[in-house]
Amino acid sequence: MLFRTMTAMALVLGATTAQAEGPELVINGEIPITTRAPAPEHMEYVREVMSGWEFRSPETQAFEADDFENPGMIFAEDGRTAFSQPLGDTDQSCASCHESPETLAGARAVYPKWDPEREEVQTIEMQINECITERAGAEAWGYTSQPMTNMSALLASVSRGMPVNVAIDGPAHDTWLQGKEIYYTRYGQLELSCANCHEDNYGNMIRADHLSQGQINGFPTYRLKNAKLNSVHDRFKGCVRDTRAETFSPGSPEFIALELYVASRGNGLSVEGPAVRN
Ligand code: HEC
Ligand code: HEC
Repeated sequence: MLFRTMTAMALVLGATTAQAEGPELVINGEIPITTRAPAPEHMEYVREVMSGWEFRSPETQAFEADDFENPGMIFAEDGRTAFSQPLGDTDQSCASCHESPETLAGARAVYPKWDPEREEVQTIEMQINECITERAGAEAWGYTSQPMTNMSALLASVSRGMPVNVAIDGPAHDTWLQGKEIYYTRYGQLELSCANCHEDNYGNMIRADHLSQGQINGFPTYRLKNAKLNSVHDRFKGCVRDTRAETFSPGSPEFIALELYVASRGNGLSVEGPAVRN
């Protein structure tokens, strides 16, 4: 009941801000998405955080309003099929231990997350692989492989509308600090940091592209440009490469730390994946 009241309140608030600030994203007419929120306290230079959705054209934005129009949902549906298929040559599937994808609703919103047993920060991909290898005894999926990205899209889709809320204190704090340092380091021949583009220049045009805050609440994202689902670390790789720097690899400690930091810059925005971008 409380949840219902809060949802109703969120709807009212959403309606008020939408009038002042432009369009509002409601998926399938029933999942309101917070695409703008007050910046989390730890952010010194930004007042308001915004989903990448805010920076896309009305045509691109429209894809996300309806699951039948969202090409990313086709991959999430592939993930749903895989959810109840045997892992490798075992007789176990995700569904053997997790009744349905919906029972994992909420997980996407809090990852990357500290794992007390492994004593490390885990991304959702690492958590999925832990289940596959240690719990089911099957072979790990490639970090940015299609089955992994499909599954991550499925887990995002069942958490849509929930606020991103990664923890940055306690044992995760050191990893978060490492990620923050990477975010502000200038890389490559162009000597550009993530912040130079996504903090200092969001809202401006870079070549033909409208620069966003580089948020990851919408991941994995379906990009019209490459017509596939893109994972967070693939996106990081592309952005680092654009500075003409050697990039870290997907699944590396550096990208895991960076993911935690970037996710924390979106605390308060809704989980929106699989989002559609250009
Ligand atoms: C043999 C049992 C088993 C299998 C198979 C399994 N899991 Fe898990 N999974 C667990 C257990 C146990 C946990 C830890 C307890 C918990 O959080 O539910 C867990 C945790 C998780 C979490 C973290 C939940 C959270 O709130 O932090 C995710 C996400 C997850 N599993 C996804 C999957 C996916 C996707 C698959 C299939 C690719 C899978 N699991 C297969 C047993 C399993
Ligand atoms: C030279 C400028 C530039 C730099 C430096 C840069 N990016 Fe980007 N990034 C872009 C452009 C352009 C896009 C596509 C338009 C957009 O969403 O901003 C993009 C997109 C993204 C997106 C996708 C956002 C979405 O909603 O789909 C993420 C995430 C991202 N960048 C993260 C990073 C991170 C992390 C770094 C630092 C390692 C970084 N970027 C460095 C230019 C840059």
